[in-house]
Amino acid sequence: MKILITGGAGFIGSHLCDKYTKEGHTVLCLDNFMSGNLINIRHLLDYRNFKLVKGDIRDFDLLEKLMRDVDVVFHLAAQIHVDRSYIEPRLTYDTNVMGTQNILEVARMYDAKKVIYASTSEVYGSAQYAPIDEKHPLSAPHPYGASKIAADRMCYAYIQTYGMNISILRLFNVFGSRQRDFGYGGVISIFTRRALSNISPIIYGDGLQTRDYTYIEDAIRAYDLVLNHEEPIPEPVNFGSGREVSILDLANMIIDLCGKSGDIKPVHVEPRIGEVERLIADATKAKNLLGWEPECSLKEGLRAFVQWYRNYGFEERLKIE
Ligand SMILES: NC(=O)c1ccc[n+]([C@@H]2O[C@H](COP(=O)([O-])OP(=O)(O)OC[C@H]3O[C@@H](n4cnc5c(N)ncnc54)[C@H](O)[C@@H]3O)[C@@H](O)[C@H]2O)c1
Repeated sequence: MKILITGGAGFIGSHLCDKYTKEGHTVLCLDNFMSGNLINIRHLLDYRNFKLVKGDIRDFDLLEKLMRDVDVVFHLAAQIHVDRSYIEPRLTYDTNVMGTQNILEVARMYDAKKVIYASTSEVYGSAQYAPIDEKHPLSAPHPYGASKIAADRMCYAYIQTYGMNISILRLFNVFGSRQRDFGYGGVISIFTRRALSNISPIIYGDGLQTRDYTYIEDAIRAYDLVLNHEEPIPEPVNFGSGREVSILDLANMIIDLCGKSGDIKPVHVEPRIGEVERLIADATKAKNLLGWEPECSLKEGLRAFVQWYRNYGFEERLKIE
């Protein structure tokens, strides 16, 4: 297959690039490096079936050139950070909504066989009931979530209107190797970076807000099951573990796994405006439809991540940033 992976130099996208390049598919990785990093994919540059395109999903003409004979699109490129969306709502909208619209439109033009869209649990806002199934209201309180709702619904509209084969994956928080560990990064990688450097993790508010974490390998398996599912999947599907963990507990687990329990403890600062209080997945549909269930426990995943970070995270990244 010829596969386009937008956001392929990012955290999740680079793992997809790895998998499908090594399986022998022709992989086009499109990324503008807003939050992606060459280090995530540079080992693939030697493969003849892998091509990196530095470019932007907001560039319709580029997509027209690139997507002519693409079979499958994994669309992950996005401005992904909630905090950044407060500061740059326009950039967030242009990237996440207009960029997605471009992808859908060009996929329609060229009759792409399948588009797999990375939606998110953030579309739900804070849980109005728990666990959150796919029928939960979409009530994200921040520009990031709002932009992802718009893109998620635009995918749905293209399925309904044009009969396209588009899958909408609502992933709950994913963590693992290559996740950005600074600035607008993932909380687990930022906490790990700080803990290993003997610096306390910073927690906004009391830390009792909860999230549901999926290890990267389980997330990639979810993508692969969706890719290989014969029938179209016209309704969104949640992928999450159903395990709820508070940010405070998470910080303490990471401090412990980094061997810093006696040295540092979390520091609390003012709560963030509009922060989602509670996220926990009901992934029954993913189980029934695809047989997907997370295989990696939170503790195992965190241990693997801290190990990876000790080996490759810090030093390697310093070289390239
Ligand atoms: N990480 C999570 O926990 C999580 C959970 C649910 C959904 N998602 C979704 O998965 C996708 C990937 O997230 P991630 O965590 O890998 O983030 P990431 O920031 O590592 O990846 C996003 C990639 O998109 C690229 N990009 C941004 N704007 C672009 C543009 N205009 N044109 C081309 N490339 C552009 C970035 O440079 C980056 O490489 C996003 O759509 C995100 O909303 C992520």
